Amino acid sequence: MDFLSSIFIFVLSAFCCSSSAVAQQLYVGQAITDCNNPNVTPVVLGYAYNGANTSCQTFLTFRSKPPYNTVSAISDLLASDPSHLSEINSVSETATLDTNKLVIVPVNCSRSGEYYQLNTSYIIKRNDGYFVIANNTLQGLTTCQALAKQNPSLNATSLAIGATISVPLRCACPTKNQSDLGINYLISYLIAEGDEVSRISQRFGAENELTLEANGLSEENTNINPFTTFLVPLENPPSISQTIEPSPPPLSPPSPTISTSNDSSNKTWLYALLGALGGCALILVIGTVIFCRVFRRNKEKTDPVTASESFEAIVKPQEKKTDQESKDFLDSISANIALKTYNFDELQRATDNFSSKCLIKGSVYRGMINGDSAAIKKMDGDVPKEMSLLHKINHSNLIRLCGVCFNEGHWYLVYEFAANGTLSDWIYYGINDGKFLDWTQRIQILLDVAAGLNYLHSFTTPPHIHKDIKCSNILLDGDFRAKIANFGLARSAGAEESHFSLTKHIVGTIGYMAPEYVENGLVSTKLDVYAFGALMLEILTGKEIAVLYEDNKDLSDVLNAVLKDEDGHESLTDFMDPSMQGKYPPELAKFLVRLIDNCLEKNPAARPAMDEIVQLLSRTMNNSMTWEL
Ligand SMILES: *[C@@H]1O[C@H](CO)[C@@H](O)[C@H](O)[C@H]1NC(C)=O
Ligand SMILES: *[C@@H]1O[C@H](CO)[C@@H](O)[C@H](O)[C@H]1NC(C)=O
Ligand SMILES: *[C@@H]1O[C@H](CO)[C@@H](O)[C@H](O)[C@H]1NC(C)=O
Ligand SMILES: *[C@@H]1O[C@H](CO)[C@@H](O)[C@H](O)[C@H]1NC(C)=O
Ligand SMILES: *[C@@H]1O[C@H](CO)[C@@H](O)[C@H](O)[C@H]1NC(C)=O
Ligand SMILES: *[C@@H]1O[C@H](CO)[C@@H](O)[C@H](O)[C@H]1NC(C)=O
Repeated sequence: MDFLSSIFIFVLSAFCCSSSAVAQQLYVGQAITDCNNPNVTPVVLGYAYNGANTSCQTFLTFRSKPPYNTVSAISDLLASDPSHLSEINSVSETATLDTNKLVIVPVNCSRSGEYYQLNTSYIIKRNDGYFVIANNTLQGLTTCQALAKQNPSLNATSLAIGATISVPLRCACPTKNQSDLGINYLISYLIAEGDEVSRISQRFGAENELTLEANGLSEENTNINPFTTFLVPLENPPSISQTIEPSPPPLSPPSPTISTSNDSSNKTWLYALLGALGGCALILVIGTVIFCRVFRRNKEKTDPVTASESFEAIVKPQEKKTDQESKDFLDSISANIALKTYNFDELQRATDNFSSKCLIKGSVYRGMINGDSAAIKKMDGDVPKEMSLLHKINHSNLIRLCGVCFNEGHWYLVYEFAANGTLSDWIYYGINDGKFLDWTQRIQILLDVAAGLNYLHSFTTPPHIHKDIKCSNILLDGDFRAKIANFGLARSAGAEESHFSLTKHIVGTIGYMAPEYVENGLVSTKLDVYAFGALMLEILTGKEIAVLYEDNKDLSDVLNAVLKDEDGHESLTDFMDPSMQGKYPPELAKFLVRLIDNCLEKNPAARPAMDEIVQLLSRTMNNSMTWEL
């Protein structure tokens, strides 16, 4: 039989059977790739309502695949309940699942007109089209044709990144006949390469004849294709034992450092910022040592600004040190400050001799030291300025420098490891493969950053100003707790009370820099408050500050739309990150918009202090937790 006539028969049988209200479902076949054909067989749009129950509990299957490889990501994608999902798959709610593991997804299926379906929403990512979403992301749980039908107002050929579409997932409830035979569930199984109907029936303990019938197939016609759904009729809910692949396809083994823990399954989430660090500063520590010695007696009286200037004066000549001198200085450093010095062979062992598989980015490697992960940055002759600050602070929201090593002219700095990389990777669209932070995670991150800054401003002597707060300088650990990094521009504040001083060198990042600093070089802790306002704006909108600037020239315009809109939440919907749409408490969001507005005040004195911001954010966090329940 040629291809055309088989299509003809297929279409014919589809029509004759779907007209009957009590029919079994048909197998969808290859029509799923025919995205531009308006006359597809109905089963492509979904499983037909069969006149029996209008809704039922059922199960989908899904193969874990980053970024959809956690309980929360999968239940979000497929409108499932995370606690049910983790229970039926016997995994913890925070677990990361192995790639290609078959996951059972409990869902509620209901009638929508002529079809059964389960609605979920999806946010368009870069390079998405309906076929890619249906086939590659949802693995066949929906079809391009069903997506087009469900979203009639959207133009399928020009989907806007960040737009939310409604996705009908393919599910079905048993017919009267099936119920009579004791079948309580029709699970939407995803066919994999090499699957056969008989093997699928066997695996789930279903009767092969009923399985064939449930899909409108017969002993003579058992053709099935990967990335299509297939109904398996079951008396009882599926169990974890049925998710084990009978003969697992050979996978390339992940490298040992990556497979050792859940949170490290993807190298790109790794602590990557350090690669971007410019800085030059063991020298500064060296400077500190010298400084401490030279100025020991009058240290108490020394003005902090003069102090940091004298650092630079002393530091410059040190740059051309010989190896022997460097070693001597290393000795004096470890004697003077509580910083561990590592032997080079320790670091070699930790990073598998600085192998490429331990490389995070630039010259930053991931290493295992005594069972703990660390980020190790290799530098030539220079050491970040931040060392002079980092060695004397200890706060969980500020990245920790654990140690140093000197070998053959190179410096190696050992930092605490932040498993989830930079905040910017998580906030801006498209960077992190469609993974997004939820509302509460974002508030926690803001609170963490505020707490870190508050510590710098109020609990270090002299007070310090970070001066370069921005998304890419915030790192996230395995629990998404934030740590401020890159103290390369940090400096101590001026005269005690006002904490104001002047500088001639304007350095920082456009959009984050306070106007008084750009215009007059005025430096105060309120610089960080302004930048924090910009950071909040990015975290809530999901947009880079540079983009917001380009579009508006004045950031207060972005905020005013929301602040001037008294009752309706429409302006808020436009303002907020599309990935959080409908998943945030509007009142709290509006409150934060007001706080951003205060932080971005032109007059530095009108901006709130960091301790005040911490108070406000802890209250917001508490309310968010209650809202989540
Ligand atoms: C349902 O069962 C009845 C009797 O058992 C049978 O006559 C009918 O053809 C069945 N319907 C379908 C669609 O299989
Ligand atoms: C499905 O429905 C049941 C009962 O109506 C409900 O308890 C459960 O939370 C629903 N599950 C989802 C994922 O909506
Ligand atoms: C799914 O969404 C469509 C379109 O938004 C709607 O018409 C339909 O009633 C919804 N179905 C269910 C089961 O929620
Ligand atoms: C469907 O998706 C799978 C997995 O991503 C891919 O291997 C396959 O080539 C896709 N099919 C088509 C027709 O593009
Ligand atoms: C959809 O978008 C494409 C490309 O932008 C355009 O050529 C086409 O005319 C649009 N179709 C409709 C119906 O708007
Ligand atoms: C579904 O319908 C059958 C009869 O057609 C009935 O026996 C069964 O209890 C119904 N199931 C649910 C969950 O309503």
